[in-house]
Amino acid sequence: MSEKLRGKVAVVAGSGRGIGRAMALKLAGEGARLVLNDLEDLDDEPAMAVREEIIALGGEAVACCGSVADAGFADRLINTATGAFGGLDILVNNAGYTWDNVIQKMSDEQWDAMLGVHLTAPFRILRAAQPMIRALSRADSEAGRCVVRKVVNVSSVSGVFGNAGQVNYAAAKAGIVGLTMTLAKEWGRLNTTVNCVAHGLIRTRMTEATADAAPPSRCRGERSR
Ligand SMILES: NC(=O)c1ccc[n+]([C@@H]2O[C@H](COP(=O)([O-])OP(=O)(O)OC[C@H]3O[C@@H](n4cnc5c(N)ncnc54)[C@H](O)[C@@H]3O)[C@@H](O)[C@H]2O)c1
Repeated sequence: MSEKLRGKVAVVAGSGRGIGRAMALKLAGEGARLVLNDLEDLDDEPAMAVREEIIALGGEAVACCGSVADAGFADRLINTATGAFGGLDILVNNAGYTWDNVIQKMSDEQWDAMLGVHLTAPFRILRAAQPMIRALSRADSEAGRCVVRKVVNVSSVSGVFGNAGQVNYAAAKAGIVGLTMTLAKEWGRLNTTVNCVAHGLIRTRMTEATADAAPPSRCRGERSR
């Protein structure tokens, strides 16, 4: 365990697998206390498994299971962080999946699902976090402390360059870029940096169906649900 993030509270949405799990383990390894999240399923609770991994390594973690796309979930997630650890320093909006089709075959359900998980959910989580971040920032400045908080939103090369078959996913991942740039301007005065990372192809469960077949085009990104 490193001391670099000792005492910091980090929330990582979609941290039961893949990139989110890797981020959660890295943050915990640097000393942060983790709020994990993933979908809940009777047979599979990936966020709970990551919690056990972190605790076995000597870290601290709690899980807030459920879909980030559910109404009311955002408040529950932020309340878990403040209830368990009394603060909020790092927030990563990573949860998601893909549901591809060409536009002429894409249903409203497919479109809404991608906008819901990749854009509306981060919006709601950040909206729910704002009062806590504002209060913490005010308390820091009154006490003469300089504390910088961090938001990382996860986008994709699909959102930056487009990708055939992903009009829903690409639109949502482009939307999170605009949200990020706007919130960076709003939250500078709260000493909170708001950034976005647009990954290229990374081999995870989400991409396993096509990872081997992926051509070297920069626009070929993630596929499969
Ligand atoms: N893997 C890539 O090549 C790639 C490229 C660009 C962007 N991304 C983005 O990175 C993020 C993580 O993807 P990954 O590759 O690690 O996939 P993954 O499937 O390995 O992990 C994503 C996790 O998010 C969870 N999740 C999905 N919907 C959820 C919801 N509604 N509520 C809570 N949790 C939910 C899944 O159950 C899963 O555990 C996603 O936002 C994805 O769009 C991935």
